[in-house]
Amino acid sequence: MNNLQNKSALITGASSGIGKAMALSLCQKGCELYLVARREDRLKQVQEEILALNPQSKVHLIASDVNATDLSKKIAQTSNEKIDILINNAGLALGREKVEASKLADWDAMISTNITANFKLVHLVLPWMLKNGAGDIINLCSVAGHYTYSGGAVYCATKHAIKAFTRVLREETCGKNIRVMQISPGMVDTEFSSVRFKGDMKSADAVYANMTPLHGEDIARMMTFMLEQPRHVVIDEIITMPTDQGSPTTISRKST
Ligand SMILES: NC(=O)c1ccc[n+]([C@@H]2O[C@H](COP(=O)([O-])OP(=O)(O)OC[C@H]3O[C@@H](n4cnc5c(N)ncnc54)[C@H](OP(=O)(O)O)[C@@H]3O)[C@@H](O)[C@H]2O)c1
Repeated sequence: MNNLQNKSALITGASSGIGKAMALSLCQKGCELYLVARREDRLKQVQEEILALNPQSKVHLIASDVNATDLSKKIAQTSNEKIDILINNAGLALGREKVEASKLADWDAMISTNITANFKLVHLVLPWMLKNGAGDIINLCSVAGHYTYSGGAVYCATKHAIKAFTRVLREETCGKNIRVMQISPGMVDTEFSSVRFKGDMKSADAVYANMTPLHGEDIARMMTFMLEQPRHVVIDEIITMPTDQGSPTTISRKST
């Protein structure tokens, strides 16, 4: 087993959903945590939950947009340039309109957050990992990185981009004791859909109606399993969907 005790883990998007669940999982493994998200109040709540679970936890909050130009400096200063684990998780989908009807501002937000900021974080921490002689990176992809669906052109494109980047990274770091991994979930009941539908809770709730979705804790458990494998083992990728989901567009819903 790869012991995670005292490892420093940087988790983006730790204020809710999958990132929050991963912070709660890694605090119980004894990791020192660096948590990034924009909503500071929510990060503080996560910190309180972590300390309630493990009062010995060391938790550093970095309240910032992942697109902020000074984020690299803040992470470097807070972590003293030592990150053993990167959970590259912050991301979002905006809208379900077809290409011609979608808003360019939504495209910009998805491309900058899901692609540019994600890649730049790897660019920041990889040299520290290489210098340290070890490191683990898990990129949050999606089934949208493997399939496509109408109304998801740009979101699917961003997740396909993550898949390509992750594969190249794995080739480039081969032999350097850097484990590059990816997880691709289907439907996870988080704030994802309320963000996608911009607060329209009727549309957001309809996504998970009459079926049993995954939860953030399911994804965190799988990512923790990936990290705990002995160092000679890399779980290249986990693709996971709810039992009630056959593809992004095939969902079994119980009749009411
Ligand atoms: N839920 C699903 O069905 C699903 C399926 C496959 C993949 N995923 C992927 O899983 C990842 C996590 O999503 P989730 O389901 O946990 O959704 P979520 O509950 O909405 O969490 C998204 C997290 O990302 C953060 N974030 C978003 N934009 C940010 C920005 N510009 N700067 C900093 N932080 C930002 C949010 O924090 P703040 O708002 O506080 O900044 C939040 O903590 C995403 O990459 C998503 O694409 C989700």
